[in-house]
Amino acid sequence: MPFVTTAEMFKKAYAGGYAVGAFNVNNMEIIQGIADAAAETRAPLILQVSAGARKYARHAYLMKLIEAAEADTGLPVAIHLDHGEDFEICKSCIDGGFTSVMIDGSKYPLAENIELSRKVVEYAHSKGVVVEGELGKLAGVEDNVSVSDEDAQFTSPDEAEEFVAKTGVDSLAIAIGTSHGAFKFKPGQKPRLRFDILEEISRRLPGFPIVLHGASSVIPEFVEKINANGGAMPDAIGIPEDMLRQAAKMAVCKINIDSDLRLAMTAGIREYMTAHPADFDPRKYLTPARDYIKSLVARKITEVLGCDGKA
Ligand code: G3H
Ligand code: 13P
Ligand code: ZN
Repeated sequence: MPFVTTAEMFKKAYAGGYAVGAFNVNNMEIIQGIADAAAETRAPLILQVSAGARKYARHAYLMKLIEAAEADTGLPVAIHLDHGEDFEICKSCIDGGFTSVMIDGSKYPLAENIELSRKVVEYAHSKGVVVEGELGKLAGVEDNVSVSDEDAQFTSPDEAEEFVAKTGVDSLAIAIGTSHGAFKFKPGQKPRLRFDILEEISRRLPGFPIVLHGASSVIPEFVEKINANGGAMPDAIGIPEDMLRQAAKMAVCKINIDSDLRLAMTAGIREYMTAHPADFDPRKYLTPARDYIKSLVARKITEVLGCDGKA
């Protein structure tokens, strides 16, 4: 089966009250860990690639690795550009075989974001590719872009309605209090998401798929392993899983996870190297790292996203 778009996945997820996991990938072990978990749980898969991941691993290598995951599992797999910052990178990914792209114009004023997103939609749709737009600003760090808590902005339901109507995007990422990275709330701060905004946006856009970025839970088990093995992330805090479950039951059809994968991988490597300080075979320390990715993703699929058995 060739790569699929997310259209069918989102239609089923919306109707079924669950979300599909969108996992960031940038090397073979991460892709294998995710693919093995999805195969065992029969979950549809969105594998997403950021500009930084594409620069690191290179487009051609990632395509072949993801093709291998698709062939090996037989699952419906969508390949998605995460946080495309301009028309050129979206076009390059569309021309290079991606089935879904995100145009992230969230840093621009509304009119400019609409113009840019509409241009991407026109090109993408002419090639059978779907587009995710973004409105509102998440706090946190992606690659070299850092948005402070003060500059973060919740999505306006009025603007969401106008944006979708004028751009023709197929899904929309919104800001309701999640943020990128492993430090989503300050120590002592009570995690809170604006479900009222999500509710209002879905009332204005019935049946329309919403995307949640910055949705890692920063699993304490992995943070503890990192800290117990020479790491220093005592204040890492993520989105509570019950909030993600609630979002998945509502209009959220795609939940983005990257930091949790990074933490699982780092925990596996650090733990192994502490126990085997003289070892220098990457296959040895990447095996537990890949195993942790697999167990993390299997748990997300079955206990948080609810997309097991939906492939
Ligand atoms: O939302 C951002 C993703 O976690 C990708 O991060 O740009 O550092 O690859 P990156
Ligand atoms: P996390 O940093 O919470 O994993 O978010 C990832 C993300 O939104 C990718 O686009
Ligand atoms: Zn993101």
